Amino acid sequence: MTKAKIIGTGSCLPPKVVTNDDLAKLVETSDAWIRERTGILERRVSDAATATSDLALAATEKALKAAKTDPAEIELVIVCTTTPDMLFPSVGCILQDKLKMVNAAAFDLSAACSGFNFGLSTAASFIETGKCKKALLVGADTLTKYLDWTDRGTCILFGDGAGAVILGSAEKEEGVLASLIMSEGHLGSVLTMPGGGSRDPEQKNGRFIRMNGREVFKFAVRVLESSVRKVLEMAGKAPSDIDLLVPHQANIRIIDHVSKKMGLPKEKVYVNLQKYGNTSAASVPIALDEALAEGRIKSGDLIVLSGFGAGLTYGANLIKW
Ligand code: UT7
Repeated sequence: MTKAKIIGTGSCLPPKVVTNDDLAKLVETSDAWIRERTGILERRVSDAATATSDLALAATEKALKAAKTDPAEIELVIVCTTTPDMLFPSVGCILQDKLKMVNAAAFDLSAACSGFNFGLSTAASFIETGKCKKALLVGADTLTKYLDWTDRGTCILFGDGAGAVILGSAEKEEGVLASLIMSEGHLGSVLTMPGGGSRDPEQKNGRFIRMNGREVFKFAVRVLESSVRKVLEMAGKAPSDIDLLVPHQANIRIIDHVSKKMGLPKEKVYVNLQKYGNTSAASVPIALDEALAEGRIKSGDLIVLSGFGAGLTYGANLIKW
């Protein structure tokens, strides 16, 4: 069967940097606490005039260039986001229009911080079944617009950004070798953004992220390890076969704990959360783009991408580069 292969990547971060010391002026926290408990040193925050599609557009332009792909070749656009510009049209359709991807079906996918892994699994299926030849997959979020800047349990964690990949068909046994996506809806209440949906269109319950950090942490540690192990098993591989793990960038303690349990040395785990915090659906494609630019991935390497987040949801993809 045809496999789906990433043929170009791109990313975009808004220029404004907010440091831990900046946050310590807003809430009762400190640079030392945030560093020690999360690993985050600073994050990027978009300005009022910038919406998710603006970041997605810049990331996509870079990915199209890297993939030497004309927008008209794209037959599928999936934008993974929980912070769309508006309820509709989708960010996917806004991007389609801006880039004149006239031969594409475009839609948004909502799986929060797992979004990119859900999107990769979905887009890969379209390519594997021959429904399309080239797809654009974007993870883009501007969660800082939905933060309660008086809640130290959430406002220190998140940042804005976008990452994009172009998927094409692989000729040989390479590309996405195995995919796993899963949801645990019964745990949904531990991470929510209740305002603004049809249950509360006037946002009487607030328009901010609400999170039980400890519960999300326990979930993340459990599913990050289990999903990476499962996706490896699906392809008959072992943790020692991994060349680079690119996990969702939420908290260094989650990543370190799981890497240690799986026997993965630091050089086999990509981390950039110190610069950007948790950029939700954008974190994995931004990390992938930077890992490539830094020469951390070479042809033939075995890469695992993994994510977890609201829903609760989680997913992992095993890629032979
Ligand atoms: O993509 C998924 C998105 N979410 C996540 O990945 C979040 C996963 N969870 C986490 O990353 C961590 O749970 C947090 C970083 C959110 C919190 O770290 P923690 O080590 O679990 O802290 P905690 O909630 O157990 O709180 C420990 C203490 C508490 O004080 P007391 O009750 O011991 O006096 C908190 O009030 O730390 C306090 N605290 C803070 N202190 C300074 C909580 N947030 C802060 C803060 N600065 N920002």
